[in-house]
Amino acid sequence: MALGTRPFPFTVVAHVLGIGAAIMVLVWCINFRGGLAWESTNKSLIFNIHPVLMLIGFIILGGEAIISYKALPLKKEVKKVIHLVLHAVALILGIVGIYTAFKFHNESSIANLYSLHSWLGIGVIVLYALQWIYGFLVFFFPGAPAGLRSDSLPWHVFFGAFVYVLALATSLLGFLEKLTFLETSGITKYGMEAFLVNFTAIVTLLFGAFVMLSVLSQAPPEDDFSYSTI
Ligand code: HEM
Repeated sequence: MALGTRPFPFTVVAHVLGIGAAIMVLVWCINFRGGLAWESTNKSLIFNIHPVLMLIGFIILGGEAIISYKALPLKKEVKKVIHLVLHAVALILGIVGIYTAFKFHNESSIANLYSLHSWLGIGVIVLYALQWIYGFLVFFFPGAPAGLRSDSLPWHVFFGAFVYVLALATSLLGFLEKLTFLETSGITKYGMEAFLVNFTAIVTLLFGAFVMLSVLSQAPPEDDFSYSTI
């Protein structure tokens, strides 16, 4: 299924929303939550790395990797490398981001993996890694025979979109969960911070919507920008 629309407006709006969400999560974690630290006696600063890496590293870079085929006026072979490298960076930052949530829990004597957010989070990172490995082997190195590549492509697109939507949902649950913890421990329900967190989640959701619109948009057949004939 494809929309009969050019990708250009969708990819531009996605970039703008991605930059907006990145700024918002940094302002939240640095200005409102005290900053980021790998080692600290204030364990909340270790936790703060988690939303920053998951949103900027995993969701936004992952979204940019997805739309790279539609957003960049480059040769398909170059875009293929950009696509797989951006996804690899997103995956690595996602793994480090999840590690920081475990580190925060372990150093604060809090149980691990008790929430729906954490269960979906583990599922998302495992599926993302499997999708990357399969894509690498079939489309890049060593590369599968032409028949298997063309049979795999619609599944690669479907599964990639599915995992990405799951990642978006998981990040929204993360914002909800953290804000609920904060409100339970005293921050004002209609205060600046609560609005900032909720709007960051909304901008993230809109970013995801424009990533999906870019995927569904129709690259002009003559420009060789589409991933449809890898
Ligand atoms: C797709 C992106 C994300 C993934 C894959 C993810 C994954 C995870 C995982 C696996 C844990 C469990 C750590 C443990 O049990 O020790 C966790 C914890 C947590 N995450 Fe995320 N996370 C994501 C984004 C976010 C975001 C954006 C926030 C916003 C603040 C957030 C907030 C939390 C909170 C509050 C916890 C601790 C409570 C809990 O374990 O549910 N996460 N995350």
